[in-house]
Amino acid sequence: MNKNKVYIETYGCQMNLADTEIVLGILQNNGYSVTNNSDAADVILVNTCSIRENAEQRIYGRLGNFKAIKDQKPDLIVGVLGCMAERLRSDLVDRKKIVDVVVGPDEYRRLPELIDVAFNGDKGIGVKLSKTETYDDIIPHREDGLQAWISVMRGCDKFCTFCVVPFTRGRERSRSMDSVIEEVKQLAARGFKEVTLLGQNVNSYNDEDSASAGDFADLLAACAQVDSSVRIRFTTSHPQDLSDKLLYTISEHSNICNYIHLPVQSGSNRILELMNRTYTIEHYLQLVEKARKIIPGVSFSTDIISGFPTETFEDHIMTLDVMRAVRYDGAFMFKYSPREGTKAFRMEDDVSEETKTKRLQEIINLQQQISFELNQELIGKEEVVLIEGFSKKSDKFLSGRTDTNKVVIVPVDNKIKPGDYIKVKIHRATSATLFGDFSGLVNLVQESLSLIG
Ligand code: SAH
Ligand code: SF4
Ligand code: F3S
Repeated sequence: MNKNKVYIETYGCQMNLADTEIVLGILQNNGYSVTNNSDAADVILVNTCSIRENAEQRIYGRLGNFKAIKDQKPDLIVGVLGCMAERLRSDLVDRKKIVDVVVGPDEYRRLPELIDVAFNGDKGIGVKLSKTETYDDIIPHREDGLQAWISVMRGCDKFCTFCVVPFTRGRERSRSMDSVIEEVKQLAARGFKEVTLLGQNVNSYNDEDSASAGDFADLLAACAQVDSSVRIRFTTSHPQDLSDKLLYTISEHSNICNYIHLPVQSGSNRILELMNRTYTIEHYLQLVEKARKIIPGVSFSTDIISGFPTETFEDHIMTLDVMRAVRYDGAFMFKYSPREGTKAFRMEDDVSEETKTKRLQEIINLQQQISFELNQELIGKEEVVLIEGFSKKSDKFLSGRTDTNKVVIVPVDNKIKPGDYIKVKIHRATSATLFGDFSGLVNLVQESLSLIG
């Protein structure tokens, strides 16, 4: 095959990043090679996100850029993958004439065939959702590195009223535990040091079929046992079903990170109900308190939406109150964006843009202040850091992260290299970054043994 160079861009969440690796795995099995240069590509793919209006706008902008390349090179195939492909289906081809291929998240196996359809002059469209597809047997294309993502489940059954994901990703389904563990083993053998298990709601992971059937806590424990020098992270946890068993599992394994991303969305019970989040703030706060007892030093991050329909000033204040009560280490904060097809879309989007912006800014300011204060408390303390590489700003510094997912910067030292776990004495902190000095290598096996002994 001569037209075999594929270029791909990925937007949206980590699940999309993981899907891109699956897509490239599938394409490579079919004779394609990957290029990082869009001008050199025969096929340009965009793996897209629909979560908010501005996510889609960005992608329309990118498709405009690719039109310029296609004008010069009419044989170029442009394909849209992911959530926007699933949401808009063949409308995408009508709206954007340059789009030749539209493939939703459950039809990536058909991508080579659908690209061929496009090479033959038709539109290649595959947007069926599946109840069973998990790409269990596909080996994702991963460059060598230290960190990897593994999707352990797909879809979402929660139907939060603001969210498109249940529509773009379909029903919840889990991969087999055996296949996930096998993947962790292969990554460990390749020298990876951190694996993040992914799902929209990992707490409902459930492997019913394979010989080693189990829930998410079982999966996490099994992954942690593969190699004590490989850190295990996971995201996202829904507050409704974060079990005690899961909390104990995190506390019992030194290489399962003491970090829980636990989206709260709002501090008001009335809004939470309208969002169909299925928990109250009281339940949420009790959960945080329990987790802190079971896992000393655990840190939390969250997602918050400002300006959901009918949100009053009082509701907004309750959100700020929850932030003060939990003191999150970090947060992803968004303005509510109405999404067609969701239940909330039928409610009036009655909080003005100006109010949404003002509330969001207050939420961001408060989070920055809290992150700053929490990080200041670490000055003078020693943290264990997994070194990842040079810092973004300077090759005189190395960058890594703590178990609680905080970025730490240390001066380059010939005793340390990427992939090492080191001790760092923190001497300065901003709201986003800790700065410190190397104070010794960590021998993880010994540390975990000494914990047991
Ligand atoms: N499954 C995860 C998150 C999925 S989307 C969970 O349940 O937490 C990531 C975040 O995007 C959500 O937590 C929410 O805060 C935000 N989000 C989703 N839909 C949105 C919308 N319509 N407008 C604004 N933010 C939204
Ligand atoms: Fe969306 Fe809610 Fe599912 Fe998260 S749990 S993906 S916010 S529907
Ligand atoms: Fe976006 Fe789809 Fe992820 S809508 S956030 S890419 S699941």
